Amino acid sequence: MDDLNALRDELLAAIESADSTAALETLRVSALGRKGTVTGLLKGLGQVDPEQRRARGQAVNALKEAASAAIDAKMAALADSALESRLAAESVDVTLPARPLPEGRLHPISQTLDEIVAIFGEMGYSVAEGPDIEDDFHNFTALNIPPEHPARQMFDTFYLPERPDGSRMVLRTHTSPVQIRAMQAISGGKANGLPLRIIAPGRTYRCDSDMTHTPMFHQVEGLIVDRTTHMGHLKGCLIEFVRAYFELPDVPVRFRPSYFPFTEPSAELDIGCDRSGGELKIGAGDDWLEILGCGMVHPNVLAACGIDPAEYQGFAFGMGIERIAMLKYGIPDLRTFFDADLRWLKHYGFVPLEVPTLFRGLTP
Ligand code: DAH
Repeated sequence: MDDLNALRDELLAAIESADSTAALETLRVSALGRKGTVTGLLKGLGQVDPEQRRARGQAVNALKEAASAAIDAKMAALADSALESRLAAESVDVTLPARPLPEGRLHPISQTLDEIVAIFGEMGYSVAEGPDIEDDFHNFTALNIPPEHPARQMFDTFYLPERPDGSRMVLRTHTSPVQIRAMQAISGGKANGLPLRIIAPGRTYRCDSDMTHTPMFHQVEGLIVDRTTHMGHLKGCLIEFVRAYFELPDVPVRFRPSYFPFTEPSAELDIGCDRSGGELKIGAGDDWLEILGCGMVHPNVLAACGIDPAEYQGFAFGMGIERIAMLKYGIPDLRTFFDADLRWLKHYGFVPLEVPTLFRGLTP
């Protein structure tokens, strides 16, 4: 047994004085490894006199455990002191600038909507909203859209399954139903909420998918109803809008007669542009580009909303957001708007905190 005590003292002393984890590891292998001294003692137990074998076995095992525990403790102590000396040597410079976080970008659709809201907001319009899933009355009937109108056909419109009463809801094909909802909300039979001045941005849906159409797209609707509203107001308002939106002091415009069931008279607004040299330039040249539909609200529409067309009249307009975003920001392909490609967003997107206002400027 003396040999074990001597070995134990020697081992523990060596462990205690090990000054690195590598040295400790070498010690562990030489004592407890497959060919280690302690392992050798365990293997040699077979040769020991049977009377002494049990006591000797216990003693060797105790030695093995003591050595193993001492190595673990020393290992932890070495790690602690390594950390402590690192902490003492290194320091944090709190004056360094923070690492930049990855920056998000506003989608051009959001930016364009914000710009439009800023412009009409300053003219006194407020934002109105309506549901994406509409009923037949708001999307068609109240807007004076006759049953045979192509917009009502299955291949143009997304219909939901039939309801128990036989009617079908539709994904709204335009933002015009918000006109109806806004007029219904204020008329209450007495038209006492007038004058009405709203813009309604939102998603719209049509069964269309090709180079220049996506099944979901965005529109902004505008509506004014008052006693004295006339075509001159419509023109002045939209001319102001076009200048503000394209950030040009003057843009040639043309109101071209057109047809919409919900307006009479109806017009399409074209802006002057130049296409020579393969590049589109807005506000100059002798070419025209259509940007929106507009007109004086049809008396049938006012009447359908409980507003007396003999006393009130209004104007309305509607435009596609993707289209005017593409024109202003030179985005060539409509479908890329909805590809959710981060590289595209980084290139065409906007800094989120630069909120557009007419006063400080629309684009950062
Ligand atoms: N709703 C029409 C469309 O989707 C756009 C439009 C035209 C809206 C004339 C109007 C308007 O309010 O007066 O094509």
